[in-house]
Amino acid sequence: MSTPGATNLITVRVPAKVNLELRVGPPREDGFHELATVFHAVALFDDLTVELADDVSIVVDGPEAELVPTDGTNLAVRAAHLLAERAGVTDGVRMHLVKGIPVAGGMAGGSADAAAALVACDHLWNTGLDREELHALAAELGSDVPFALLGGTAIGTGRGEVLSPALARGEYHWVVAMAGRGLSTPEVYREIDRLRDAGQAPEPPTDLSVSPQLMQALRAGDADGLGAALSNDLQAAAVSLDPALERTLSIGRKVGALGALVSGSGPTVVFLARDNGHALDIAVALTASGGVSEVRRTIGPVGGARLVEPVRG
Ligand code: C5P
Repeated sequence: MSTPGATNLITVRVPAKVNLELRVGPPREDGFHELATVFHAVALFDDLTVELADDVSIVVDGPEAELVPTDGTNLAVRAAHLLAERAGVTDGVRMHLVKGIPVAGGMAGGSADAAAALVACDHLWNTGLDREELHALAAELGSDVPFALLGGTAIGTGRGEVLSPALARGEYHWVVAMAGRGLSTPEVYREIDRLRDAGQAPEPPTDLSVSPQLMQALRAGDADGLGAALSNDLQAAAVSLDPALERTLSIGRKVGALGALVSGSGPTVVFLARDNGHALDIAVALTASGGVSEVRRTIGPVGGARLVEPVRG
């Protein structure tokens, strides 16, 4: 228990994700889609700092902070309430979130914040829940939340919440191009259903599994092989809703990106580079094109949500 008046800050750092492959089945009865996906955590982070309080609240800072809700719909707030309820905690928490992950970009920023809140509040309140219990709460909060806890590179099945770590060697260099506007995840899933029904996108795969070529490239640390195997069934839907993404993809391909794809439900686009210098070339070409709001270089894989030294902004 904390001493009254003492400042006990806990900070958790949590990464963004890209889907190296995203295979989407037909809609299920519960409205979700069955997936086979390969998650990969990259070094774009949100930092969540927490301290004890009487109730649950959040303040958000960072480049796109105004786009993040601070009411009960905020995923970190929902995570704190859910953990308190399940662990029988009556304390509250004051949360300070510093966004580094693009908002509504298809990089699971909101899910990352939920994972960060679970880890931070678990420590703050000393709940005594084990890993499996935290994972189960994460899955309740959203399909991508369990992966934000785990990090690294992992295969996701079910609606994305059933995880098994993937054998992956090496470090990969990524360029991330943000669109300056968001896409709604449910809308992108509805669009892929519509395109498929209209015969404008390939039928859902009958065998939902990740590609052996991609897994082999990861095992070998083969960036060329990985670039060639990147694929995302939601890309056609994201491009249909935001046709300018096609131009962004082609700019990266022209400067020799090993692979280019829309991240998750978009609209963020990611490019695989050979090395840091190549990543810089791709970033310069994208910036010069004027068609993207921001370009960042990053690496993956990195670990999932973890405690770090407190940061205060
Ligand atoms: O699980 P999460 O809350 O992140 O999902 C957001 C929305 O994305 C869902 O409400 C659903 O419309 C869509 N979704 C889906 N199938 C999945 C994951 C998400 O249809 N496997």
